[in-house]
Amino acid sequence: MENFEVVNPTRIVFGKEQLNRLPELLNVEKAKNILLVYGGGSVKRFGLFDKVLSQLSSFNVIEFGGVEANPEYTTLMKAVRLAQENNIDFIIALGGGSIIDGVKLISGAINYKGEPWDVLERKEGYVFQSSIPFGTILTLPATGSEANSGAVISRSELKLKMTMGGPLFFPVFSFCDPTVVVTLPKRQIANGVIDAFMHTLEQYLTYPMENLLQEREAEGILSTLIEIANVVDHPEDYKLASNLMHCATHALNGNLRCGVISDWTTHMIGHELTALFGVDHAQSLAIIAPRLWERKFSEKQDKLTQYGRRVWHLEGDNVTVAKMAIAKTEEFFQSLGVKTKLSDYTADYQGCEKIISAIFKERGWTAMGERKSIDLDDVEQIILSSI
Ligand code: NZQ
Ligand code: ZN
Repeated sequence: MENFEVVNPTRIVFGKEQLNRLPELLNVEKAKNILLVYGGGSVKRFGLFDKVLSQLSSFNVIEFGGVEANPEYTTLMKAVRLAQENNIDFIIALGGGSIIDGVKLISGAINYKGEPWDVLERKEGYVFQSSIPFGTILTLPATGSEANSGAVISRSELKLKMTMGGPLFFPVFSFCDPTVVVTLPKRQIANGVIDAFMHTLEQYLTYPMENLLQEREAEGILSTLIEIANVVDHPEDYKLASNLMHCATHALNGNLRCGVISDWTTHMIGHELTALFGVDHAQSLAIIAPRLWERKFSEKQDKLTQYGRRVWHLEGDNVTVAKMAIAKTEEFFQSLGVKTKLSDYTADYQGCEKIISAIFKERGWTAMGERKSIDLDDVEQIILSSI
């Protein structure tokens, strides 16, 4: 087992009708001037916004709406200025992963002297030194952002999607109420299932580990997601919705990575597809993952076989089971209504493999994966085979 150190300070308040706990948790933080950040309006349409506001009557609340899916840097900088003008001492993210990620950037940028984009570009010596505390009210189970310290920020005019994070960016608390799934479009529920599934696989589909507990926990999340995937058609079913939300949080709250090696290459390539073509985050993963496993088949075969036997209950010789495991996973994504070819989403794909490999080269991402064996030629071939 690999050595590890883990800390996760986020208080998860899980379940129905828990919002009346909000004032108490804000008082613990001595919050006075609160920036309430939300997205394109779904929270207003479905009544959650008013419920949240009614819990905030004893606080000074400044609203900032309009944060996009795949949150835009320039929009978030407007929120930073609003926060600075209003002496904000606490932020609430009301939304899905995009809103929560956006709030992470806002919280670091408020007291940052300089251009926060330099931090996202990882320029030498540019780091956030402090953050304004924030909490989240989750409306979309998918990313796990409610329980981790990472964020992904887009800058569409540059066609870039950058990651940031660190210990400053854990939410203080996160309200996780599975009944929010009821208002989600089918496409977003499917995205949530796939994102959680892929977060688990990125921390699992490497090579067999001695960390037996983490292997079983990952297989437990994968099996549960397969079992409850019909939440896509039955969002009102609390058993299905609550298990989806629980899985999504657990897939990326830091637990699965304890003592294991991971391979986040599917996410790394996927983010570039979103930046170039605007495909949803989960769609980008469904496009890349099966082709990456095929390309690195010999290296991942042992783990693919274990996954095929334990999660999909496949039988046969090892190679056959490993191949069938890839096919089963792709079929699973398709059964949720998510297409797995880039050409299903855009006709504009010519040359994108070169654009992406050039970006990776510039960032020094030339040896990825659990064995550092995924090079730029692999990246190009994976993308070409996904078209
Ligand atoms: O903007 P509104 O009108 O609210 O609509 C949103 C949005 O259009 C809608 N929605 C959210 N909750 C709803 C709802 N509609 C009806 N009812 C509800 N209850 O759903 C749309 C998508 O929302 P978004 O927040 O973009 O989705 P998701 O949670 O999938 O987040 C995706 C973003 O998270 C990043 C992705 O790259 C992407 O930018 N990720 C963040 C991670 C992290 N911080 O750990 C890890 C992930 O791998 C991922 O990269
Ligand atoms: Zn993801």
